[in-house]
Amino acid sequence: MSGHIPEGFPRGADGRLHIAGRSAADWVAEAGDTPLFLYDRALLTARARSFRAAMPEGLGLHFAIKANPLPELLRHMAGLVDGFDIASGGELERALAAGMPATRISFAGPGKRDRELEAAIAAGVALNVESAGELDRAGAIALRLGQKARVALRVNPPFALKGSGMKMGGVASPFGVDAAAAPELLRAMQAQQFRFEGLHLFAGSQNLSVEAILESQRQSVELAGKLTAEAELAAPPLVNLGGGFGVPYFPGDRELDLQALGRGLAAILAERPAILGESRFALELGRWLVAEAGVYLCRIVDRKQSGGETFLVTDGGLHHQLAATGNFGTVIRRNYPLANASRDGGEAETATVVGCLCTPLDRLAEKASLPISKVGDLIAVFMAGAYGRTASPENFLGHPPAIEKLV
Ligand SMILES: Cc1ncc(COP(=O)(O)O)c(C=O)c1O
Repeated sequence: MSGHIPEGFPRGADGRLHIAGRSAADWVAEAGDTPLFLYDRALLTARARSFRAAMPEGLGLHFAIKANPLPELLRHMAGLVDGFDIASGGELERALAAGMPATRISFAGPGKRDRELEAAIAAGVALNVESAGELDRAGAIALRLGQKARVALRVNPPFALKGSGMKMGGVASPFGVDAAAAPELLRAMQAQQFRFEGLHLFAGSQNLSVEAILESQRQSVELAGKLTAEAELAAPPLVNLGGGFGVPYFPGDRELDLQALGRGLAAILAERPAILGESRFALELGRWLVAEAGVYLCRIVDRKQSGGETFLVTDGGLHHQLAATGNFGTVIRRNYPLANASRDGGEAETATVVGCLCTPLDRLAEKASLPISKVGDLIAVFMAGAYGRTASPENFLGHPPAIEKLV
């Protein structure tokens, strides 16, 4: 075992790892092959429920499906959250196919093509507009279709979510419009070809500091009030505050204190500017909702020694799980939580677990402490529910895709 294994993955009496009530080996036998992603339905449900229990009444919960767009998982999530955030025409199709009503889908992301705008407007999905040019194109398409385009303005926040894995505020950015340009575009959104839906702010991702998240939410609410006043508009129907909730991947990381976040957000919303009195608020989370429910299973196909080190070579790797190899937005490579799923306890060894790609980047764990592992054993990489297969270069080197299952 290496790192902090999330709750919900016990061992059987024989030492085998269990996922959703069955051993990893059973799931692999049923799927017929490795590598295999398993996503635990009950853990996903519990996660969404814990959000509801901790957060202020009425705060909307949207799922950013970029974190995991597996169709079965989306169908499950559609019953747990208030809306989906999508980032492409492909995600639009998946969101609708999962049964999420178009009225509860919003589309954010730079570079929306005309055909994507058209599909979204025709379906009745809200656009989180990223620029003046995009608003013009959406307006022209809406007029041509004889339909109103539902539009919200994505504002590039003039502040960062401090300590975020990925900063998306406080800098020059392709995402959203600068605050200075917002009032004019908010006024333009009152034209007859649009239905104004509100404001969208997204300041950062993967943050484990309650204080930093609350500070950015406080600033976001303040900014939403200021921009609404400057544009001389009534309350925006919805203020989407983004999110940035992180999960503990690495030794020393701690789970976010959800109760503290909920209390803080309740206070921020209670003290919101009067002009936002009638607005609804929502958070838009990807990783936090799904990361911990996922496990990536691969099989050891070789074990070898080199330069005094033991290497366990698996049939998995960065083509399925780029993030776990430290190549998806991390500055310093650290091990994701990982374990031998076939055995537990006994004599331990220090081993480096690698994938099957011929690049030195393909390392699932560097010098991990594991029970002495054999060829044929299953390796489990945890925290694999978000940005796994969907954020990996699957075609690289022509290995088969990973199997994915909601269990
Ligand atoms: C607009 C937007 N919303 C939501 C997310 C999801 O972020 P996370 O998975 O960190 O919750 C992202 C991630 O980049 C994003 O760009």
